[in-house]
Amino acid sequence: MNVYDSEVLKGILFKKGYSETIKPQEADLIVVNTCSVREHAETRAIGRLNELSRYKLENPEIKLAVIGCMAQRLGEKFLKEVPALDFVLGTEELFKLPEYLDKKNEKPLVALSLSRLREIQVLPRRKHICTAFVAISRGCDNFCSYCVVPYVRGPEKHRKVSDIIKEVQCLIEYGCREVSLIGQNVNSYKDDGYDFADLLREVSKTDIQRIRFMTSHPRDLSPKLIQAMAFLEKVCEHLHLPLQSGSDKILDKMDRKYSSEDYLRLVDSARSKIQNLSLTTDLIVGFPGEKDDDFQKTLEMVDKIEFDSAFMFKYSPREGTKAFLSEDDVPQEEKIKRLQALIELQKDIAKKKNQELVGKTEEVLIDGKSKRDKANWKGKGRSNKTVIISKEKENKDLFGKIVKVRITKADSFTLFGEIEK
Ligand code: 5AD
Ligand code: SF4
Repeated sequence: MNVYDSEVLKGILFKKGYSETIKPQEADLIVVNTCSVREHAETRAIGRLNELSRYKLENPEIKLAVIGCMAQRLGEKFLKEVPALDFVLGTEELFKLPEYLDKKNEKPLVALSLSRLREIQVLPRRKHICTAFVAISRGCDNFCSYCVVPYVRGPEKHRKVSDIIKEVQCLIEYGCREVSLIGQNVNSYKDDGYDFADLLREVSKTDIQRIRFMTSHPRDLSPKLIQAMAFLEKVCEHLHLPLQSGSDKILDKMDRKYSSEDYLRLVDSARSKIQNLSLTTDLIVGFPGEKDDDFQKTLEMVDKIEFDSAFMFKYSPREGTKAFLSEDDVPQEEKIKRLQALIELQKDIAKKKNQELVGKTEEVLIDGKSKRDKANWKGKGRSNKTVIISKEKENKDLFGKIVKVRITKADSFTLFGEIEK
């Protein structure tokens, strides 16, 4: 969502005549977008802002802005952490940055209002890209006990179907082949009688080639959505479904509103109806009160389900959340140990699953060159797995093309293959 918000803001700034530089010393305005989900992200943002402050010391004309979740969370307090700041703009105020820049502010400006923002008026400028995010909703009403998002992004707001379709059409004109519909909880989407499955059907009617979405909450994964994924050809067979923990006791304390049994039932249903489904998840270790046998249950669930990949985190206490009131009682070393064990298990599973794809064909949207070997193109399969294309001797420009790739090799994170002739 932050990547998307930054793109939208960039679009608004471009319209105002700004252009982009990657060299801070050349900039008139430096903007840092921030995340509050875990403490580590916040520590890094403060470090980065203090590092960037020195450009302002050299040239006081430079404006320094911090935007997003952390700005929303800290507000005025940010000025103590980073005194050089000119703007502290929250998750919805950030879109007004260009207006605020036009006003002569003597003092740093802190703006944090959270409205029920539904519409982003300006369509982001995104030329020469083949895949793009489109926000369909913002905010969250779930209040999982560990999570800061409902506080910093406010209640869930849904964009209008017509605005979403307009944005997708604009992206198609820019040459975009794939959209990822994003929201904190996409599958609770509702607008004017349309639910998320209906929205997928509407987006499918456009000329876009592939559709992805994330993140889905298990509680809102309806049979209708599973059906839509199974039958809408443009919708990729990838479901990101955060499990968070395998222990019912911990799931209950997390206020996730499902049990491990419920989750298993959903997985069975999705896998039985959607062919070649790629299933990914988020997991947290070391939540308050997580005993070794709770953690073992997470390992057992991961072993049983065999996710294609997972984002795995150590619990990070966030002030203002319900879980913050419980003692953070799993020692740091224990959290690290559990995280490592979980990562190791998941790595083996991912490797096994990826190696099962050797000899098979993946449909890949080529989105650039491999970082490791600039001669090789890379892209994403429908499963959302990265595919590196080797041995493409012809010097053709494949950017943005959808090609069939025969997988020849695989490790835990990447598939390797050759274009089928
Ligand atoms: N500590 C650790 N991980 C968290 N997440 C959200 N809040 C926290 C927290 N306080 C993780 C969840 C969520 C993902 C986006 O970040 O797994 O799904
Ligand atoms: Fe946070 Fe839960 Fe909402 Fe996800 S569903 S953003 S974890 S409160």
